[in-house]
Amino acid sequence: MSYPFQIKSYEQYKEVYKQNVDQPEEFWGDIAGQFVWRKKWDKVLEWDFKKPDVKWFINGKLNITENCLDRHLDKIGDTPAFVWEPNGRDEAHKVFTYKELHFKVSQFAHVLKNNGVKKGDRVCLYMGMVPELPIAMLACARIGAIHSVIFGGFSAQSISDRLQDAHVEYIVTGDGAFRGGKDIPLKNVIDDALVTCPFVKRVIVYVRTQAPISMIKDRDVWWTDEVKKVEAQGNPVVAAEEMDAEDPLFILYTSGSTGKPKGVVHSSAGYMVYTTYSFVNVFQYEPGDIHFCTADIGWITGHTYIVYSVLCAGGTSLMYEGLPTWPDAGRLWDIVDKHKVNIIYTAPTAIRSLMAYGLTPIEGKDLSSLKVLGTVGEPINEEAWHWYDEHIGKKRCPIVDTWFQTETAGILISNLAGVTPAKPSYATLPLPGIQLVLVDEQGKEITGNDVSGNLCIRFPWPSIIRTTWGDHERCRLNYFATYDDMYFTGDGCYRDADGFYRITGRVDDVLNVSGHRIGTAEVENAINMHTGVLESAVVGYPHELKGQGIYAYVIMDGMPENKQLAQADIAQTVARIIGPIARPDKIQFVTGLPKTRSGKIMRRILRKIAEGEMANLGDTSTLLDPGVVNDIKDGRV
Ligand code: WT7
Repeated sequence: MSYPFQIKSYEQYKEVYKQNVDQPEEFWGDIAGQFVWRKKWDKVLEWDFKKPDVKWFINGKLNITENCLDRHLDKIGDTPAFVWEPNGRDEAHKVFTYKELHFKVSQFAHVLKNNGVKKGDRVCLYMGMVPELPIAMLACARIGAIHSVIFGGFSAQSISDRLQDAHVEYIVTGDGAFRGGKDIPLKNVIDDALVTCPFVKRVIVYVRTQAPISMIKDRDVWWTDEVKKVEAQGNPVVAAEEMDAEDPLFILYTSGSTGKPKGVVHSSAGYMVYTTYSFVNVFQYEPGDIHFCTADIGWITGHTYIVYSVLCAGGTSLMYEGLPTWPDAGRLWDIVDKHKVNIIYTAPTAIRSLMAYGLTPIEGKDLSSLKVLGTVGEPINEEAWHWYDEHIGKKRCPIVDTWFQTETAGILISNLAGVTPAKPSYATLPLPGIQLVLVDEQGKEITGNDVSGNLCIRFPWPSIIRTTWGDHERCRLNYFATYDDMYFTGDGCYRDADGFYRITGRVDDVLNVSGHRIGTAEVENAINMHTGVLESAVVGYPHELKGQGIYAYVIMDGMPENKQLAQADIAQTVARIIGPIARPDKIQFVTGLPKTRSGKIMRRILRKIAEGEMANLGDTSTLLDPGVVNDIKDGRV
């Protein structure tokens, strides 16, 4: 495969960017023409951000798995599609060629059909990082079922919320998952979730850890038994279902500033076209390259840059089970050395945690195969950027700092590796098709350079969020109502004197903890469920490893006698309700919260105290009870 749409110079980038602004429909129509369609679209784009209503490649028919798999079989059928590296070093790695993957996907698509799954049905995938997870995703896509992958760290309550929200009747899970030194009890958590989800008809269980699990008659079945049935049927090839360009491909839940997580819905065609375009351009992927994205498939980074975009491009995707620091902090570099990885894509939080182990874990590892380094998920501090550049890239690999969101599905702002300039801590420039705008609080555009504002986008790109599952109004309110005729990202941003973009972090009540998005309201709701808690307020504070830590101010019905125990109990409740990733780092018991006369919590003040910036708290005269601030300052943990 070659990529006619791969941009090869900075000059060409500028030209292509302009071409896209001038004629976006011609531009994306040309790119889309390089994919396999059952029927060509009638019109490239219709859009109205007010509703919002965005449609790409109208009336086009396709199946994304024919683009990920079938079309590669003749030319690169024996090329590895996935290389899988298991958690433990004593277990052999596995390779799946395009032909093998195509076979497995078809087989499992048949399993899904045998179990009653039909086009449009939602299927929850709650699995570890085993190859069977992408196989199950692609099998869903093959038959037109909508997958909803839930990260293996979420709790039973979080799963139950998501199953109910999308009325999910089918689940694929594992007995457990290996993750570093821990075994995650996947099936047990699913069983707890299902107590409140009687509508779930079938649970297909893949055995990985051989943990003892309960299997309920007529509901739970074993993956391998179901595959054997398909083998007995003679492994018939499952033809791909013909999908409309706008049919949903998947739902992925993410946190917002209010309420429960929302199900971000992505389309089939627009998602495919944009994400593949971004993959080939940002990483400058060349046929034969080994691409190693360290994310979990439970997040958008894994969906797009482990599975769909890499396969659409006919690439080789390396996925691993486990953790960067287990069994030691040389894990990623061992994998790079062993598989001669060309592109590594990870998160600043992983880089920072590896930095803490010094250089010994890197010694003796051959990293000379690396060509491109990538980061994603949060702003990367300059120290981490330089460490990555010096010790991993040996100053010869471009670093791409890629900005995107669950809602954008693909990278929107990034340098193109070795093609457009990099700048430490800057995502730099938008990809073609991405029209960025900085606005002030009133929604007025801030023009010129060396300016900061809220980051918006004024024109749709093919992989933009289509709706939030079951609640379109929520999608409008969240992303399209803050500013007229613009998509609002929720991020603050600085544009430097040269027009390069630097993301400064969320401007809404969303935290970014180790690259994971967590809504403060969600954590507060969980804390408030703990016995004796009257009220709470959660803010972020700078955390050396995690980027942001979670700081909770909690009012109890009477000060707890054993504060330490009460803190641990509250943290446990949060882990139980949401998942361990939302566990507060610090809990301070307070007797009151700084509120305005109208009862609004002044989070600005709480944030400053959590950050340790006690001297300059700004104007506190509008507070109902200014005295409460001193008490909070004195009790800071
Ligand atoms: C939020 C999206 C995108 C995949 C993982 C997170 C922050 C993401 C960067 C970056 C600075 C970044 C933003 C964004 N973010 N990438 N390169 N530099 N900040 O996906 O959970 O949807 O979170 O992550 O704040 O809004 P997500």
